[in-house]
Amino acid sequence: MNLYPLLRPLLFALDPETAHEVTLKLLQTAHRTGLAQLTTPRLADHPVEIMGLTFKNPVGLAAGLDKNGDYIDALAALGFGFIEIGTVTPRPQPGNPKPRLFRLPEHQAIINRMGFNNLGIDHLLQQVSNSAYHGILGINIGKNFDTPIADAADDYLIGLRKAYPLASYITINISSPNTQNLRQLQQGDEIKNLIARLKEEQLRLHQEQGRYVPLVVKIAPDLSDEEIRHIAQLLKSYAIDGVIATNTTIVRANIAGHALAKETGGLSGAPVKEQATYVVRGLAAELNGTVPIIAAGGIISAEDAQEKLAAGASLVQVYSGLIYRGPQLVADVLAGL
Ligand SMILES: Cc1cc2nc3c(=O)[nH]c(=O)nc-3n(C[C@H](O)[C@H](O)[C@H](O)COP(=O)(O)O)c2cc1C
Repeated sequence: MNLYPLLRPLLFALDPETAHEVTLKLLQTAHRTGLAQLTTPRLADHPVEIMGLTFKNPVGLAAGLDKNGDYIDALAALGFGFIEIGTVTPRPQPGNPKPRLFRLPEHQAIINRMGFNNLGIDHLLQQVSNSAYHGILGINIGKNFDTPIADAADDYLIGLRKAYPLASYITINISSPNTQNLRQLQQGDEIKNLIARLKEEQLRLHQEQGRYVPLVVKIAPDLSDEEIRHIAQLLKSYAIDGVIATNTTIVRANIAGHALAKETGGLSGAPVKEQATYVVRGLAAELNGTVPIIAAGGIISAEDAQEKLAAGASLVQVYSGLIYRGPQLVADVLAGL
């Protein structure tokens, strides 16, 4: 039974950040009381094997919806093939002042400038330990807003070391537009040095702990062809395990004239779809299957997901589509496979 069409007008009457919190709390309650299990259809498996992991299906939850890992079990019960939590930073931080989250229903889009609001990695890891979920769990790590960009690698190394024992894979987020200069880490020698240090530490942790945890890099849609090629070459030469394409866009061309178009932040949902697919296609051409691609950006229907898979992705992730379509989106995408 799909209750979301009934709930959506009520949620959309609330300011977006309140709606976000209310929805997750409702979902948690529905899960704990067994109500969610009654209303969620059982989904057939569509296994995908990449990065040495078996995903029960190719539809994942994108990072940023459960930044602190507070809702892992309730979200997993919606049928996702994998869940990515975070972005989490070494120390807790409040994020940007509110309002920082905006809905654009006319465009099936969202603008956010949350700014990595989170309770810190220690809290998140505690939540992972407390959860009953045994499926694939990605932990997405970032840097604190007040860590100088020159020291960014230190924050990522803290995240990598702490998350390593509990993550199925770890995502290096260098593509949020809401932390000053973060996207600089996608360029030239900065990305090369960062990847080199993280890869070295991953291999050391593998030796030390006897378990290999894949390392994934998440990139922006706002990259030139040259930048896409450069990143792809580095992913290959440092044997990075996967790439997520893409994060939100700072481009506003697709929502020009909208009252909220001038809000600072990352735009997601339908308006980023084409740009994200373009990046997936560009990566696929360079990578030739050597590094698997996880696609995100504007997946709001089964067809959107298929477009991403046809462009060369092995898995997809959704965020904005869930806001507009509800959890039924997962079943729809799987039915379209
Ligand atoms: C409110 C909001 C918060 C987000 N926070 C994060 C985050 O913390 N880390 C991250 O890697 N991506 C974050 N994202 C980006 C999504 O994970 C995803 O890459 C992007 O929204 C494109 O997918 P979509 O069009 O399905 O939303 C966020 C997106 C939204 C809408």
